[in-house]
Amino acid sequence: MDINQIKKSSLKELEKIKDLSGLEKFRIKYLGRKGELTAILRSLKDLPVNQRKKIGKEANKFRKELEEVFKEKSKKLQPKKLQPSKIDITAPGVKVPQGHLHPITQVLRQVEEIFQSMGFEVVEGPDIETEYYNFDALNVPDEHPARDAWDTFWLKPKSPKSKVQSPKLLRTHTSPMQVRYMEKNNPPFRIIVPGRTFRYEATDASHSHTFYQLEGLMVDKDINVANFKAVIQEFLRKLFSEDIKTKMIPTYYPFVEPGFDIQMKFPSGKWMEIMGAGMVHPNVFKAVGYNPNNWQGFAFGIGLDRIAMIKYGIDDIRLFYKGDLRFLKQF
Ligand code: FA5
Repeated sequence: MDINQIKKSSLKELEKIKDLSGLEKFRIKYLGRKGELTAILRSLKDLPVNQRKKIGKEANKFRKELEEVFKEKSKKLQPKKLQPSKIDITAPGVKVPQGHLHPITQVLRQVEEIFQSMGFEVVEGPDIETEYYNFDALNVPDEHPARDAWDTFWLKPKSPKSKVQSPKLLRTHTSPMQVRYMEKNNPPFRIIVPGRTFRYEATDASHSHTFYQLEGLMVDKDINVANFKAVIQEFLRKLFSEDIKTKMIPTYYPFVEPGFDIQMKFPSGKWMEIMGAGMVHPNVFKAVGYNPNNWQGFAFGIGLDRIAMIKYGIDDIRLFYKGDLRFLKQF
């Protein structure tokens, strides 16, 4: 066969090959030691010099070409290698973003648990109160100067007719629940009342217009200030896991007698008022139909935000209400 015939037939054959064994046969036939191209190259020595050069050159050139297309074809026919897996099972997992409870809610739950462990029951009351429960029944009658201590958000009456009822307001403290609870239950009992409270006042680092209080009320026979002190000291010790420095400062609340403010020391050394408290006033017992000669009790109203501020070392109450995730994510 001459070189041109080999060119034609080999390329045609190569195109038709569909598997590796066919390809190997092809290699032996054309490119192998006893193959057709090799045979031509071997027979060159028998040719006259002028033809030897020409044919030799052509044959070598074609051999190279054929080797190239053979390589291409062989690449195509190679079984596909499996792609290495893109999943690195040793890599640490991607965290699913997860929310959590607001720091005030976290503190509230801890506080509830502590009081429950001391036998207090949790009860709740309405955010919208009447003037009667928020003030009158708590020994704060209309025109009483003590009302100024609670700057109030009053709600507009729905119609002039409803003026005859007790006007509505956003409760300024959780104390109205003292009255609501005692109207329906008989002593002895111990309750706590957590809830949102509202005051129409300018905000600053320790005052918010909306904040949380936790009311406490314990009524029984022969209850005195020492019982109150013991309960509060135990509560603070459990919440802060250490003995906490507190000051009890005599103060005036119309619904208690005597009344106190409890101040607590910040880690920085600053003192902050965390609750008002006192022995339930006889007039409050009378308003709910208890005989003040038979029953005594103590009541307190803790500022939960203030407790959270001390617990977490936060010096501005407003941070709790901004909804800033950079702040909230730290809890
Ligand atoms: C009262 O609201 C009384 N009802 C507490 C009480 C209950 C006294 C039972 C006696 C018997 P006072 O206005 O002081 O008291 O508020 C109680 C606590 O709520 C304060 O000690 C403080 O910790 C918190 N507090 C009051 N106003 C704000 C405010 N604007 N922002 C954040 N916390 C406040």
